[in-house]
Amino acid sequence: RPRVLSGIQPTADSFHLGNYLGAVRNWVAMQDTADAFYCVVDLHAITAGHDPVALRNRTRLSVAQLLALGLDPERCTLFVQSHVPEHAQLAWVLSCITGFGEAGRMVQFKDKSAKQGSDSTSVGLFTYPILQAADILLYQADAVPVGEDQRQHLELTRDLAQRYNSRFGQTFTVPSAYIVKDTAKITDLQDPTSKMSKSASSPGGIIELLEEPARSAKKIKSAVTDTGREILYDEVNKPGISNLLTIYAALTGRTIDELLEQYDGHGYGDLKKDLAEIVVEFVKPIQERTRGYLEDPAHLDKILAIGADKARAVSAVTLAQAYQNIGFLSPS
Ligand code: TYM
Repeated sequence: RPRVLSGIQPTADSFHLGNYLGAVRNWVAMQDTADAFYCVVDLHAITAGHDPVALRNRTRLSVAQLLALGLDPERCTLFVQSHVPEHAQLAWVLSCITGFGEAGRMVQFKDKSAKQGSDSTSVGLFTYPILQAADILLYQADAVPVGEDQRQHLELTRDLAQRYNSRFGQTFTVPSAYIVKDTAKITDLQDPTSKMSKSASSPGGIIELLEEPARSAKKIKSAVTDTGREILYDEVNKPGISNLLTIYAALTGRTIDELLEQYDGHGYGDLKKDLAEIVVEFVKPIQERTRGYLEDPAHLDKILAIGADKARAVSAVTLAQAYQNIGFLSPS
């Protein structure tokens, strides 16, 4: 079975529909086809300013949501990044083979640091993709299920793996990004040419899995749609309605063509009304299950302790090999 690894940041009070459709949905499916490792990346979550109490709560909340969305600790390894010290350790080593200019070309870094200004941008934000590479390479992952916005970080990860292997001898599997085209970029409901984003979307543009379902319904109904009245799939000229069709198809397992046929002759309002209902029915049981998991924090902690042990069993072996290959004296 191929090995997969992916991660998600605990930086908000809820995941959004883009996180689910672009990434977590594939994580759930890959539990049955791969040896899967999934982590809540709390080390990444402190790179842009945070509140300690909120971080702790959001880390638990993230784990509860992942379980509610279908991750099963019997079929995957679910853990918190900071519980596995090898991540930070390998990140240091990789940072020493990463070019300063190479790291500076990361688009997410450029965007975020441009917004913050250089004095409030942390060095951690700059080295963020190197830590992400460490997350992946420690597990010898073959594939990394992510949304489109992570493609460049995955390219860097591949480059670093190849560089390490060629300088110091075979150490890491060179991973591939696993990006499912249809749902790789769910867009902002109010600004359908930008991605739906925790940090950049306005409240009306983002469907949060844990928000009041009636609120989600309202957002779908007031989503920005395009000029014209016909329901067509056309990402360039009709990005708004195309995004709604993508969400509709993904949540119901139907094809876009089937939907186009069903809504032939109908207006945007009909489609939005139906989709609003579908979204509400989708989030309700997830919210209920999330609440259930949160009621028993000791159980969550136990799942995470087991996950951390399983993760360390793999990551410690890779780190030891990487240390040896780069020339560190082994401790006796
Ligand atoms: P994060 O926490 O921003 O997002 C988690 C996952 O959700 C995907 N995603 C989307 N997919 C489709 N449409 C959208 N609008 C959308 N918004 C977010 C992201 O692509 C991601 O897959 N750097 C990563 C976390 C990370 C990681 C890793 C990922 C840390 N280490 C190792 C993979 C492997 C991030 O910030 O994801």
